[in-house]
Amino acid sequence: MKPSQPICYPSSSRLVYLFCLVTFLITTASYGGNETDHLALLSFKSMITHDPYGALTSWNSSFHFCDWNGVLCEKNRVTRLRLFSQGLAGYLSPHVGNLSFLRYLVIDNNSFQGTIPPELGRLSRLSLLNLDSNKFEGVIPTNLSGCYNLDTLVVSANRLVGSIPKEIGFLSKLAFIVVHRNNLTGGIPPFLGNLTLIESLSASRNPLGGNIPHTLGNWKSLKELYLGVCNLNGIIPDSIYNLSVLTNLSLPDNQLTGSIPSTIGATLPQLVNLQLSNNKLTGHLPLSISNCSKLELIEMSENKFNGKFAVDFAKLIDLYQITLDGNLFGSGEADEMKFIDSLKNCSMLQILSLAYCNFKGVLPGSIGNLSDQLLYLSFGENQLYGNLPSSIGNLVGLTNLHLGGNRITGKIPPTIGKLQNLGVVTMFKNQLAGLIPDALGNLSSLIKLALNSNRLEGRIPPSLGNCHKLSQLFLGDNKISDTIPKELLQLSSLSFILNLSHNNLFGSLPTEVGDLKMLTYLDLSHNNLSGNIPDSLGSCTSLLFLSLKGNLFQGIIPPSLSSVRGVARLDLSYNNLSGQIPRFLERFSLEYLDLSFNDFVGEVPVSGVFANANAFSILGA
Ligand SMILES: *[C@@H]1O[C@H](CO)[C@@H](O)[C@H](O)[C@H]1NC(C)=O
Ligand SMILES: *[C@@H]1O[C@H](CO)[C@@H](O)[C@H](O)[C@H]1NC(C)=O
Ligand SMILES: *[C@@H]1O[C@H](CO)[C@@H](O)[C@H](O)[C@H]1NC(C)=O
Ligand SMILES: *[C@@H]1O[C@H](CO)[C@@H](O)[C@H](O)[C@H]1NC(C)=O
Ligand SMILES: *[C@@H]1O[C@H](CO)[C@@H](O)[C@H](O)[C@H]1NC(C)=O
Ligand SMILES: *[C@@H]1O[C@H](CO)[C@@H](O)[C@H](O)[C@H]1NC(C)=O
Ligand SMILES: *[C@@H]1O[C@H](CO)[C@@H](O)[C@H](O)[C@H]1NC(C)=O
Ligand SMILES: *[C@@H]1O[C@H](CO)[C@@H](O)[C@H](O)[C@H]1NC(C)=O
Ligand SMILES: *[C@@H]1O[C@H](CO)[C@@H](O)[C@H](O)[C@H]1NC(C)=O
Ligand SMILES: *[C@@H]1O[C@H](CO)[C@@H](O)[C@H](O)[C@H]1NC(C)=O
Ligand SMILES: *[C@@H]1O[C@H](CO)[C@@H](O)[C@H](O)[C@H]1NC(C)=O
Ligand SMILES: *[C@@H]1O[C@H](CO)[C@@H](O)[C@H](O)[C@H]1NC(C)=O
Repeated sequence: MKPSQPICYPSSSRLVYLFCLVTFLITTASYGGNETDHLALLSFKSMITHDPYGALTSWNSSFHFCDWNGVLCEKNRVTRLRLFSQGLAGYLSPHVGNLSFLRYLVIDNNSFQGTIPPELGRLSRLSLLNLDSNKFEGVIPTNLSGCYNLDTLVVSANRLVGSIPKEIGFLSKLAFIVVHRNNLTGGIPPFLGNLTLIESLSASRNPLGGNIPHTLGNWKSLKELYLGVCNLNGIIPDSIYNLSVLTNLSLPDNQLTGSIPSTIGATLPQLVNLQLSNNKLTGHLPLSISNCSKLELIEMSENKFNGKFAVDFAKLIDLYQITLDGNLFGSGEADEMKFIDSLKNCSMLQILSLAYCNFKGVLPGSIGNLSDQLLYLSFGENQLYGNLPSSIGNLVGLTNLHLGGNRITGKIPPTIGKLQNLGVVTMFKNQLAGLIPDALGNLSSLIKLALNSNRLEGRIPPSLGNCHKLSQLFLGDNKISDTIPKELLQLSSLSFILNLSHNNLFGSLPTEVGDLKMLTYLDLSHNNLSGNIPDSLGSCTSLLFLSLKGNLFQGIIPPSLSSVRGVARLDLSYNNLSGQIPRFLERFSLEYLDLSFNDFVGEVPVSGVFANANAFSILGA
């Protein structure tokens, strides 16, 4: 707002004209307002050491201070100072405490350092103080209790230490306390429960310690409680579950104990976000959660919740994420996985993560009725049995599918080839049998495929050569009996891992193996591969790990292997290799070398890895 410029017309009555003129002269001489405000702003500027975007260049004598950038006056008194995200560095002047009409002080996302001046406590009209994302250090001054009109206190993301002053409990108009990401200690003062208008407390990522005071249950207007990573212990007081307008309850990464009251569905009908991961919570997940119909996010992984998981999700149509990994559900009852049926109404569901949950049932066909928005589906490391339903092919949006570490039997349904967005598929350590479906070759987004430790047989589909993003392929520990398809070795995207070990692969290693120039880990051990080691293997110059152990390779170690000089672990044991042990191996930085049980002749080199008796073996050579 511009200061009102008195414009005096001689045509007005003489007295009015005179009065007008005098007023004009006085206001002009004193910048049309309170000189104290002017001095306070000049002091503010004088303590800024860096102003990269010129936020304060207009702060000079050419302009009235009420026209300075970021300054707002009412009746010539500064009421708002708003200079956020200006890259300002320096200290906050204690003179700001003289801006006695100030209501908003907003200087978040700058680089203010030093302490928060206790003089701010003189700002009795202040309603918004936002110092977020600066480098303030020291304590939150107890004097802020003088700002008795304060509605919103934001000092998050600074370097503050000490405790949350209990004097804050005197600020009876306070509705928002935002102190997250500091180094505050000393617990949550129970005294804060005296504040009756609190709508949000955000204190996550402070090493506060102590309990959640039951007095916070007095905050009948509380909508958001954020106390994640606060080193809290003890129970979540029942009074918290009584806050009927609570929408966001976020207490992850503490050591909270106890269980969730069975009435939660009735007492917290507005709940939107429930985040309790990484605590020590026990007991059943109350069935009444089925009535929290506004829930969008349920994160309760890494706790000790137990018993049959029987929440009915039919009314929770806004849910987009459920993560419950690392709990002790699992009743062993036949309908243990029935809850999946009720998820079909959750048409926004994107993430369903239920790994390490102790589930013991059969994956129902209704899995195919999950949302077509679903991106991430994990049932890894449970004890699921039965076949993988072919309806999985309906989940056309899926990018991640994790089913490893279960007891799933039967074939991999070819419908999986419909999931064009799949990037990561893990089904290792199950009892999958039959052929690897050719349809996997349709998954052009695939980055990682882990089917190891199953009972898969037959061939390696050459169609995998179409997965042009594949960088990790695990097919080890199956019953595959085939030659290695050259299409697979021509996949230049295979930069990380190719593990075909512990199968019944036969025939020679195709010369195309030399195309795997980016590959770091190649394990072909424990197969029936025969013939010479191809010279082209020397082109795999990125290899750090190479094992051909337990095959029928014969002939010499090709001199070309001298190019694979980064290899740290090399195992050629249990083959029919012959000739001399090549001297170039002495120059390799090998951690481990096993050449045992071959037919090598001549002298064993003595330097390099060969000088360390623990790192190499040539037993039976
Ligand atoms: C004040 O700032 C304005 C705008 O940055 C500039 O044009 C003007 O020359 C400055 N006046 C003085 C006296 O520094
Ligand atoms: C913080 O301020 C910088 C400019 O200094 C700006 O680029 C950035 O977007 C701001 N960040 C936020 C979260 O507002
Ligand atoms: C303003 O504040 C400063 C520091 O708190 C103080 O030294 C000064 O006397 C105050 N008064 C005026 C009129 O500047
Ligand atoms: C200016 O503000 C100061 C500090 O708030 C106050 O003491 C003084 O009386 C004010 N002066 C005028 C002329 O308003
Ligand atoms: C802080 O508050 C105390 C008690 O109200 C007062 O005596 C002291 O002057 C205040 N400090 C500042 C810097 O305003
Ligand atoms: C927090 O305080 C502790 C103890 O004073 C200190 O060791 C730690 O480095 C501080 N952390 C940060 C992020 O300032
Ligand atoms: C504020 O809360 C504390 C502890 O919770 C209590 O002892 C005290 O009496 C309360 N004060 C007021 C003014 O309500
Ligand atoms: C929760 O609210 C009910 C009804 O308002 C009340 O009877 C009960 O005592 C409250 N429980 C707690 C722990 O505050
Ligand atoms: C509370 O949850 C809602 C819904 O997810 C979200 O939009 C809002 O930003 C959350 N509040 C805060 C302070 O993060
Ligand atoms: C959900 O709420 C309804 C109506 O209040 C109640 O009858 C039902 O028992 C509740 N369901 C659960 C599972 O608590
Ligand atoms: C599932 O959603 C449909 C419409 O979206 C609704 O008619 C139906 O009642 C819901 N089912 C349950 C059990 O709430
Ligand atoms: C999927 O939903 C449809 C329609 O609601 C239903 O007819 C079908 O039986 C469900 N499929 C499974 C496998 O539950």
